[in-house]
Amino acid sequence: MNIPQKLLIIFFLNLFATSGYCQQPGVSAIATAHPLATQAGEKILRLEGNAFDATIAVASTLAVVEPYSSGLGGGGFFLLHDVNGQNVMLDARETAPAKAHRDMYLDKNGEVEVDSSLSMEGPLSAGIPGTPAALVYLAKNHGTLPLSVTLAPAIQYARKGFKVTERYRRWAKFRLKLLQRYKYSAQIFLYNNDVPPLGYKIKQPQLAKTLEAIIKTNGKSFYQGETAKQMVNAVRNAGGIWQLSDLKNYQLKKRKPITGTFGGMQITTAAPPSSGGIVLMSMLNILSGYNIDKATPVQQKHLIIESMRRAYRDRAIYMGDPDFVKIPVSRLLSKNYSSQLRSSINPKKATPSNTLPGVKTKDSSHHTTHFSVLDKQGNRVAATLTINYPFGSGLVAGDSGVLLNDEMDDFSAKPGVPNAYGLVGAEANAIESGKRPLSSMTPTFLETDNHVAILGTPGGSRIITMVLLAALDFKAGNKPDSWVNLPRYHHQYLPDTVYYEPDAMTNDEVKQLTRMGHQLKKLQSPYGDAYARYGNMQAIMWDKKQNKVYAASDPRGEGSVSVFK
Ligand code: DON
Repeated sequence: MNIPQKLLIIFFLNLFATSGYCQQPGVSAIATAHPLATQAGEKILRLEGNAFDATIAVASTLAVVEPYSSGLGGGGFFLLHDVNGQNVMLDARETAPAKAHRDMYLDKNGEVEVDSSLSMEGPLSAGIPGTPAALVYLAKNHGTLPLSVTLAPAIQYARKGFKVTERYRRWAKFRLKLLQRYKYSAQIFLYNNDVPPLGYKIKQPQLAKTLEAIIKTNGKSFYQGETAKQMVNAVRNAGGIWQLSDLKNYQLKKRKPITGTFGGMQITTAAPPSSGGIVLMSMLNILSGYNIDKATPVQQKHLIIESMRRAYRDRAIYMGDPDFVKIPVSRLLSKNYSSQLRSSINPKKATPSNTLPGVKTKDSSHHTTHFSVLDKQGNRVAATLTINYPFGSGLVAGDSGVLLNDEMDDFSAKPGVPNAYGLVGAEANAIESGKRPLSSMTPTFLETDNHVAILGTPGGSRIITMVLLAALDFKAGNKPDSWVNLPRYHHQYLPDTVYYEPDAMTNDEVKQLTRMGHQLKKLQSPYGDAYARYGNMQAIMWDKKQNKVYAASDPRGEGSVSVFK
């Protein structure tokens, strides 16, 4: 398009913008879990890149500066909206290697090997990464700038280093033994084989080279070239089962997002293999039968908890990779089904989870990142990316500098046996070669006539209930600052317990809910109440009527936001 043509289009778009509702925000906004990633995204938008270019810059920078949360060795979901109104979810979820099989984490008695942590640590815990495929796809199909520009900030931070923060130290301490186990991991992420001091610079020259090779080969190096060889060798040498063909066969998938409405609000959210969208919609569908705005705080909490319990039960029974199992999505989201679930709720009493037909369990927290981007044209992205547990598998794959995920733990190692997040699953989420493990990540857009919201958060199984509480708060008329600050509580069917942040319930509410039959557990941390809180929500809202853009980063994390012309 030549310059006069461009100007003409901008002129017409501005004309629309003055007729009632604004069609374009006219400003950009970014909210991420790390200030350096927010800066990287801002830099790209100021270079006239769009939200998708900024997404590449943010995701790759987070891969470098938040190595405990996400990375090239992991996967995730990118929910995209372009100015033409198209919504799509890029599914960059990891896949099980071809040699993976359903009993791979069971001992000879058919029991899950609890102590060996094979699904959470080391080479057998790593799925085939999807994030690099998504970045290359975004650049080719949605971006306007070359990867050499959008990956530049990440390469710079990988080479020159970034400073260790409190959060880095916390997670490095949490997985210290694991990081010490692998030579490259200890060299890169520790100092003198111990948690590095505050302000120490973590440099990743090998990762810088891997990123440069992605630019040169348009991603081929990672899935079929030198990086692929380095990773497969490293995994095999450490006792893993990856093959070159696993990487070569990796396929990024485009999925139609889950959509629905709740009280005049349009919801666009994650599709399977995330359970997030279906569970979120299912909870909202149940709640749509009540006037929860008018309910007392205790009644409100009771109904929300009961809807959580029922939606998570369905997660456990029905959900898995849609390319392998048939999920009855339309039934689960139908009006009929949600009124059936609603009618099983006693307004005065908790329903013990074990009285609902479902998965039986014996009995049994985290890392990931979310960011939200809105550009001045109105393109938007909600992306939740992960390597699963803090520092993933703990294994840096040799000279590639790529820290591998431990996403295999999101499969159900055995029906009814909980994973790291206490989630149980059934056949639908059993391990199969090439299959994607079921996720809870829930990047989401919410829209009303006047407002657009972009949000999401890490937090394992608790992600979906955090997004639910934020969606209800959005509907109540509040802004991102309120959503990210909300005290949180969570129920996931099994264990049959409501976990709540210290400030989420008053003593009186705890007493009343206990009397109704709920089992409640206040989250605690030896480091104090601030550490007993969970999640790291990054959210943006565009008020189309006032044409104002708001952004907020969860006070529980170290993230930052930027809103600029
Ligand atoms: O995909 C999932 O649901 C998990 N692997 C996400 C892990 C997570 O959010 C950890 N966060 N604190």
